[in-house]
Amino acid sequence: MWNDLKKHHAQVGHRRFETLLDGARAADFSAQAGDMLLDYAKTNIDATGRALLFDLLAQTGVAAKRDAMFAGAPINETEGRAVLHTALRNLDGGPVVVDGVDVMPEVLQTLDRMAAFAAAVRDGRFAGQGGKITDVINIGIGGSDLGPAMATLALAPYHDGPRCHFVSNVDPADIAGVLRGCDPTTTLVIVASKTFTTIETMTNARTAQAWMGQTVRDTGAQFAALSTAADKTADFGIDPSRVFGFADWVGGRYSMWGPIGLSLMIAIGPDAFRAFLRGAQAMDVHFKSAAWHENLPALLALVGIWHNQVCGHATRAVLPYDNLLSRLPAYLQQLEMESNGKGVNMDGADLTVPSGPVVWGEPGTNGQHAFYQLIHQGTRVVPCEFLVAARGHEDDLHHQHQLLVANCLAQSEALMRGRDLNAARAKLAGKFTGAELDRQARHRVFPGNRPSVTIAYPQLTPFVLGQIICLYEHRVFVEGVVLGINSYDQWGVELGKELATALQPVVEGVQGTQDKDGSTAALVGFLQRAGV
Ligand code: F6P
Repeated sequence: MWNDLKKHHAQVGHRRFETLLDGARAADFSAQAGDMLLDYAKTNIDATGRALLFDLLAQTGVAAKRDAMFAGAPINETEGRAVLHTALRNLDGGPVVVDGVDVMPEVLQTLDRMAAFAAAVRDGRFAGQGGKITDVINIGIGGSDLGPAMATLALAPYHDGPRCHFVSNVDPADIAGVLRGCDPTTTLVIVASKTFTTIETMTNARTAQAWMGQTVRDTGAQFAALSTAADKTADFGIDPSRVFGFADWVGGRYSMWGPIGLSLMIAIGPDAFRAFLRGAQAMDVHFKSAAWHENLPALLALVGIWHNQVCGHATRAVLPYDNLLSRLPAYLQQLEMESNGKGVNMDGADLTVPSGPVVWGEPGTNGQHAFYQLIHQGTRVVPCEFLVAARGHEDDLHHQHQLLVANCLAQSEALMRGRDLNAARAKLAGKFTGAELDRQARHRVFPGNRPSVTIAYPQLTPFVLGQIICLYEHRVFVEGVVLGINSYDQWGVELGKELATALQPVVEGVQGTQDKDGSTAALVGFLQRAGV
């Protein structure tokens, strides 16, 4: 399956793709979903390469698997579960049947309960001991934190509710810093945990409970829970009226569309939250219905597969020229790397091509003054993914936004064009001569021919954010199907958790280090002597 693509790459890999860019290519190698544009013309993919990539979709049955996912089939085979986060945004798409039961009435009822609670928090009908809620603290980690934290920041211009804080790390510095700025009598604590067993979250939740208990008589009344484990939320003392449940067919990193999005909903209001869901639903519809050559999630996945599995570029930089998306790279790290960072296929056989790439990034223009040096002149090629809005939210500073856009476009152009030795020499002529001119010029050469894609949209509204996140979710799905892996489990996080539990008594000095390797034992010893 991969041979034809690799052969094609061997033939075209060294050409300068800039030479492909005639007038027609920009239109041919781009696609639109609603008013969002994906441009992948600045890559070395040509019509032959693209046709071979489309063959991958046919050979691995992506269309049938996509339909199976939307229909509630148990495609998460290692956990025996359906994968139905799409149902959470299926606002008017009709029934979704799992094991013979239409899940939509319950999904919509929970959404209505969330909206009623969010509205009450926002207008003061739900209050703390000291009055109207001024601060909401979401305590969760991984998918129970990254999604709502990223989206709440991204939609800051729409934020008209109480202040929202996100605590995730078991490092006490995280929660202590947040609690310091809050009044316990007007704070709502939301404990977000699908399993309600995650050690970081439960530890922080108990710390918050103790903090609140110093001032507030009925702490339980100022706690809410987002979880699939109703028995455990009850044991923690949270009244069922403030527990928002969801089913096990919602994966943690795909869960922000439902109860895990409660803090976002409180921040921006139920209407804006529904607009966010509608953006995702529009992308769902697009993914289900658009032909592959117009299908943004499929195209984005295939471009990624070309760069990673075919060209061998192991990482991908996500570079939002949209400061509101500064947490997007962190969010995508979980979405993509926890989903497609797998070494075996669905049958348990070793993958014959690399797993999903290392995803990393920072917003532009900040990154330009940090790591872009390596992207432009380092010896490894880093495919880049730019995101940019036509308009910001600061109408009076639009000229400044235009400068941001110019920087974004300049980077993808510079990565593609580069600057050869002659051009570098010409720039320095007059300043240096002879061998020194050559030596200095070589430092100023840009190899160019470095690929990038650009995702452009009118403005980062709730609807557009929903489109973007859903686009990435389905990209992960397509990549996972092509690789033949299960994108919906995460066994790779378990071993570290087990060893941490076993190491806690060792760190505390209750148990000795005799069962530990020499390095771990020495580190424990150092930290104990230093006061741990
Ligand atoms: O450890 C990984 C993980 O299971 C993620 O997949 C998940 O998003 C996170 O932990 C938090 O899990 P929970 O919501 O159950 O606390």
